[in-house]
Amino acid sequence: MEGDNIMKKLLIGTNTKMYKGIAHTISFLEELGELTNDIRHSIELFVIPSFTTLDQAVRVAGKYNIRIGAQNVAWENEGPFTGEVSPVMLSEVGVDIAEIAHSERRQIFGETDSMANSKVQASICNNLTALLCIGETKQEKDGRIADAVLKKQIEEGLNGIKPEDAANIWIAYEPVWAIGEKGEPATSQYAEDRHAYIRQTLESLLGHNIIPILYGGSVNHMNAAKLIREPHIDGLFVGRSAWDAHNFNRIIRDVLPIWQEKTK
Ligand code: PGA
Repeated sequence: MEGDNIMKKLLIGTNTKMYKGIAHTISFLEELGELTNDIRHSIELFVIPSFTTLDQAVRVAGKYNIRIGAQNVAWENEGPFTGEVSPVMLSEVGVDIAEIAHSERRQIFGETDSMANSKVQASICNNLTALLCIGETKQEKDGRIADAVLKKQIEEGLNGIKPEDAANIWIAYEPVWAIGEKGEPATSQYAEDRHAYIRQTLESLLGHNIIPILYGGSVNHMNAAKLIREPHIDGLFVGRSAWDAHNFNRIIRDVLPIWQEKTK
């Protein structure tokens, strides 16, 4: 990784989407915590489970130093917003990451860059780490406008963010065409090129490059090591391949030595 070397720990996590109720989330966290016990000091591990599990998940994850995130957040602290969960409420439960504008939120629920921006601002104000997800669709990739799309998502998503707020922001680059069962993982070179572009865009916007940029989209044990070797990929955001604790542990152990070599 270029620039300041403050991201020494391997940043890796999973969003369990609308899978795993309370019992499964707790057993997953316990298993993952035990399996990664010996490398805990070298990894920044995070899990983003369903809302209904958060209270209990935070308690269990605390024992293992696993950070817990929410899959969405409202942009107001309180008010007449039926069905929304405010950043204050998330903080109260002990959540410390808010995932914002995952491609499923954008594609299925119509979230816009301006909504993402309000959510980033609200998260930062409440001391949550804002994990802003960006990524182009297949059509945009084929139309060769991926970088323009990413630039817009960054500039609008982080509009009004002060350089000093960057310490509370992570970016996940997740090309829409790479996500899910029908997804095709990006090649490490394609991902690296986008990450380099994202880094450059963040630098011109904020004047520095301390925001970690994670890659997500069909990460698995076959491609994880290759991806993390790339200079501008600072971490991995894993879906399906992480939902079994043993598989996830395997991926973490595959990439950790490569990460350590890269950042030493
Ligand atoms: P996937 O999901 O790894 O199952 O493709 C990634 C994501 O949606 O974050």
